[in-house]
This record gives sequence, structure tokens and C-alpha cells, in this order.
Amino acid sequence: MEKERKIIIAGNWKMNKTVAEALDLVHGLRRELAAIKEVDIVVCPPFTALESVSKAILDSNIRLGAQNMSEHGEGAYTGEIPAGMLKEFSVGYVILGHSERRQFQREDDALISRKAAAALTANLIPIVCVGETLLERESGRTQKVVEAQIRGSLAGLSGEQMEKTVLAYEPVWAIGTGKTATSAQAQEVHAFIRKVLAALHGELIARRVRIQYGGSVKANNARELMSQPDVDGALVGGASLELRSFSDIVRNSI
Ligand code: 13P
Repeated sequence: MEKERKIIIAGNWKMNKTVAEALDLVHGLRRELAAIKEVDIVVCPPFTALESVSKAILDSNIRLGAQNMSEHGEGAYTGEIPAGMLKEFSVGYVILGHSERRQFQREDDALISRKAAAALTANLIPIVCVGETLLERESGRTQKVVEAQIRGSLAGLSGEQMEKTVLAYEPVWAIGTGKTATSAQAQEVHAFIRKVLAALHGELIARRVRIQYGGSVKANNARELMSQPDVDGALVGGASLELRSFSDIVRNSI
């Protein structure tokens, strides 16, 4: 199937994998996925495994992402990691505003937009996450919530920066629950997000932005989700932790 945008599949390992486990997985992925050219493949290990994974994927078709970064460049910010330090390990992507960080670290749209701008300035590609909770969906507020997150967490980006940015629609109720949004539910929100992007930056730019779906993506639902016109990839949690399931998702997305 020909798509207007290149599919991007990213594995968000969250707070999992020792260095040894991380290496084991990426060695396998490197072997299994060596022939894939049609998909941008990204792994996002915890900070502690970035250096080893970076070396293990050198000269491969697998790219490296981080799961968060500081909005600041350097200084007295205990426990934080800035873009420049990520770049030391050839990190190319950074997940920003994941719902777990919005919930547990109280990250808000304004902070996420500052991080996105900092990432882009440092030539990192942000993967900016948005998505409604179950309560918000059930009370009919999905579009309102997602629009506010898009406008807020991408505030101030130029059209050129917007084009480079990857978005991830991750309905909170589908994360780690085994409940996937149906492909029709995903498509509906993805098309809506593109409409919001068009209002902000014009049709041309909106058409170029890749929007991933995330939330219980597995090998057996990836194909159906990817077949939707506005679904341009996946941000995978649990199923990215195992060689078989992640490589099958990548293969099934082509
Ligand atoms: P699961 O794939 O485990 O539902 O997690 C999705 C996610 O949060 C990816 O960022």
C-alpha cells in the first residue's frame, strides 16, 4: 500500500530493560529488520541504555529516541537531561508529553511546547503525544481535549518546525489496557488532528505531518490500524519489549 507519508514505528520501552537486556533486544532487531527500508524504525530505551544501544545500532536502519528531555540547555536542574547530552549518543528523536508524564510528573501543554521548541532547535525530532482519558471520551469531549493539547503543546512552532514534528495520538484508556481504539476510532481522531494542523499551518504542512497511533498496538492489529489513511505509524509500549512482537509490528505495517 502506497502512503503519502513514510510510516514511523517507535518502541517506547518506558522504565524497562537493563543495559544487557536492551542490547539483547536491539541485536535481535538489527538482525530481523535489516532489510526493511519502507519504515522509519525507532527505539526509545531509558536514558541509562542510550549509550550502549547507540553503539549497537551504528550503521543500521534503526534510529534512537529518548523518552523525555529538559526544556533547558544546561545548568542547575538536578536529575534533568538536556538535548545536547542526548545528541552525544546520536539520539534523533524524543518523546514529549507522554500521558504518563502528563499524569505523574504533572507536565502541561506549556511545558511540552517549550520542550518541543528546544528539541527542534537542537535538531531532535519531537514525538509529541496527545490523547483523551476514558472519562473525557465518554463525556463527548475527545475532540475538544485533543485540540487543546495540539494547540497548547505545539504553540509557537513555525511551519517548518511543525513539518518535522511527529505526533502521537494515544488515547489514555488504550494504553497498557489491551483495549485498542478501533481503526475507525483512530482514523476519526487522526483526521481531526490533521484538520487542526491545517487550521494552524495550512493544508500543505498538515498533509506532511506524521501522526502515530499508540495504545495496545500489537502484531495482530497493526496492519488494520496502519491501513487507515491518516494513521502514519505507531508508538508501541508493551509489545516493543519483545523481539518477535516488535519486529512483526514493523513488518505488518508495510
Ligand atoms: P502500550 O502499547 O503498552 O499500550 O503503550 C502505549 C504507549 O504508551 C506508548 O507510548
